[in-house]
Amino acid sequence: MLDQKSHKPHERLAEYLREDLKAVDAMIRARMASEHAPRIPEVTAHLIEAGGKRLRPMLTLAAARMCGYEGNKHVTLATAIEFIHTATLLHDDVVDESAQRRGRPTANLLWDNKSSVLVGDYLLARAFQLMTETGSLRILAVLSNASATITEGEVLQLTAAQDIGTSEEIYFKVVRGKTAALFSAATEASGILAGVSEEQIKALFDYGDALGIAFQVVDDLLDFWGGDAIGKNVGDDFRDRKITLPLIKAIAAADDEERLFWKRTLEKNDQRDGDLEHALELMNRHGALEATRAAAIDWADKAKAALVVLPEHPIRDMLDDIADYVVARIN
Ligand code: IPE
Ligand code: IPE
Ligand code: MG
Ligand code: MG
Repeated sequence: MLDQKSHKPHERLAEYLREDLKAVDAMIRARMASEHAPRIPEVTAHLIEAGGKRLRPMLTLAAARMCGYEGNKHVTLATAIEFIHTATLLHDDVVDESAQRRGRPTANLLWDNKSSVLVGDYLLARAFQLMTETGSLRILAVLSNASATITEGEVLQLTAAQDIGTSEEIYFKVVRGKTAALFSAATEASGILAGVSEEQIKALFDYGDALGIAFQVVDDLLDFWGGDAIGKNVGDDFRDRKITLPLIKAIAAADDEERLFWKRTLEKNDQRDGDLEHALELMNRHGALEATRAAAIDWADKAKAALVVLPEHPIRDMLDDIADYVVARIN
């Protein structure tokens, strides 16, 4: 018989968690609606029906199951996490003035910024309702801290953009905030729900944190290197003058002439035809893309290392594979 199983780790995990994921999907649908403002389900359906990888809810469900959780609150938790994620995407696309998300035109393009901001707020509020339904004040604390940290990361990025003096330290602070905070909150909160030891809760946090960092580093790489498959426009970060890791590495290695190029394009916002291609050439010249990829692999390895104190379970092996997969997206 042919092996019908998928070879992609996140698809394998999705298969394993199929029933749980179905329940999350049903809860997403039930809670994204609004009886009072038809614009809300229009916008949420547009984004939610486009899919998305559902990586964060999957991690939530996986961590809970791996830790032996047998109730159904992990579904509520996973839904809350995906709502926070969706809210940040709506807001992020306004902030970044993005035109494409999940292979579709963004909500800010199809409707307007006002709708995106307000529907994002609505989803965030819905997420908080769901969190209270878990009945755990500690989980509420973890997720509300994460929500604040995500915003801090986005605002820090705002002020670091357009400054070619941005250090790797600042970059990782941004990434830890805007992206890793939700990954680590997802896995940590599941450990709390399952009632595992503090050591294991810490390991779950560390796994999510390192995985989230690896994920965003790769996302930043794909912004230069990705094809159409990512469902977002290539070169957006450069045009937005966002100083991501590949750029930081290329700028660090720049000679005087190259520095002038980076100053003109990133600080003075004087971008011309062919500049994106030249930026890519400079990054290649200095091995900046390769070095960024190596950094992502390092973080994925840290994520894998955190798993060792967690219960032996088929899911643990899949989480290990997910760390590899996050980096393999570059290939
Ligand atoms: C997008 O996250 C935002 C980043 C942190 C880069 P995903 O790539 O997980 O988005 P979806 O949910 O699959 O669309
Ligand atoms: C992703 O930020 C993080 C959040 C949405 C909070 P980016 O701006 O780097 O992600 P994409 O590329 O738009 O998905
Ligand atoms: Mg963006
Ligand atoms: Mg952004």
